[in-house]
Amino acid sequence: MRDPKSILITGASSGIGAALAREYAGPGCTLFLGGRNQSRLDELTADCTARGAAVESAAIDVTDAGAIAEWIATSDDRAPLDLVIANAGISAGTGTAGEPRDQAQRIMAINVDGVINTVHPALERFAARPAPVTDPGVKGQIAVMSSLASFRGFAGAPAYCASKAAVRNYGEGLRNAYARGGINVSVICPGFVQSGMTDANDFAMPFLMDGDRAARIIRRGLARNRGRIAFPWQMYGAAWLVQALPTWSTDWAMRSLPNKASD
Ligand SMILES: NC(=O)c1ccc[n+]([C@@H]2O[C@H](COP(=O)([O-])OP(=O)(O)OC[C@H]3O[C@@H](n4cnc5c(N)ncnc54)[C@H](OP(=O)(O)O)[C@@H]3O)[C@@H](O)[C@H]2O)c1
Repeated sequence: MRDPKSILITGASSGIGAALAREYAGPGCTLFLGGRNQSRLDELTADCTARGAAVESAAIDVTDAGAIAEWIATSDDRAPLDLVIANAGISAGTGTAGEPRDQAQRIMAINVDGVINTVHPALERFAARPAPVTDPGVKGQIAVMSSLASFRGFAGAPAYCASKAAVRNYGEGLRNAYARGGINVSVICPGFVQSGMTDANDFAMPFLMDGDRAARIIRRGLARNRGRIAFPWQMYGAAWLVQALPTWSTDWAMRSLPNKASD
């Protein structure tokens, strides 16, 4: 959507979500910002309000399907949503001892179920609309946060990669399922972006970019209704190649990559 005026973002309390909120914040824009950390949400609310946006924040956990559905419904009633960004996510790796089962399940609950919990109420709201709200023919737009890590299961973070692969395929499927119904769905696949998530990494992160730049790229991609917003292109090319090559030819390289720390 070219110029969304009412935007809901999960995982807005830090990192890419916060950068997106600041990127969209401006006069005439209403932001609904979710996360669990209320004090970080309060700081962001003050910042976005100073930029001219109307802001409401909600300390809300994406694994609570009922609470998320209610938040989306009340937000949509207050200012009909143009864009919903299902961004909230966590990461953790294997460290040196392998990935604990409870960690893998927590990653799936937040990164996959949390996205489904966010996307479905938005789809239902958009689908029920009688007429487009902003752009002609477009009832609403949804963006889901995947990752370049979705293109191959990395030994250092199996559950994280799997969760992001699920989100990417889910979003790609939804895009074509709902296109004729006037609902645009985009999948965002960033490489390394500075945030709490990457601050925890003690290995070199090629082409690491700051959150503000990532937010500008994402906004531009969403304005053009891109199906896949993958960046930076160098890392996207590498991810695409590693996915396309036979596993036997890349397993040795996969085994030598550094591991992300476990929780
Ligand atoms: N940074 C990267 O390099 C990178 C690359 C590719 C994809 N991504 C994806 O981008 C998204 C944002 O990550 P980030 O890098 O910005 O990391 P971040 O700074 O750690 O932000 C994660 C956000 O998700 C929220 N969150 C986590 N668990 C939640 C839950 N159960 N309920 C509601 N909110 C929750 C956090 O808020 P609270 O702590 O307040 O709950 C925070 O706002 C994630 O989906 C991540 O997988 C990041």
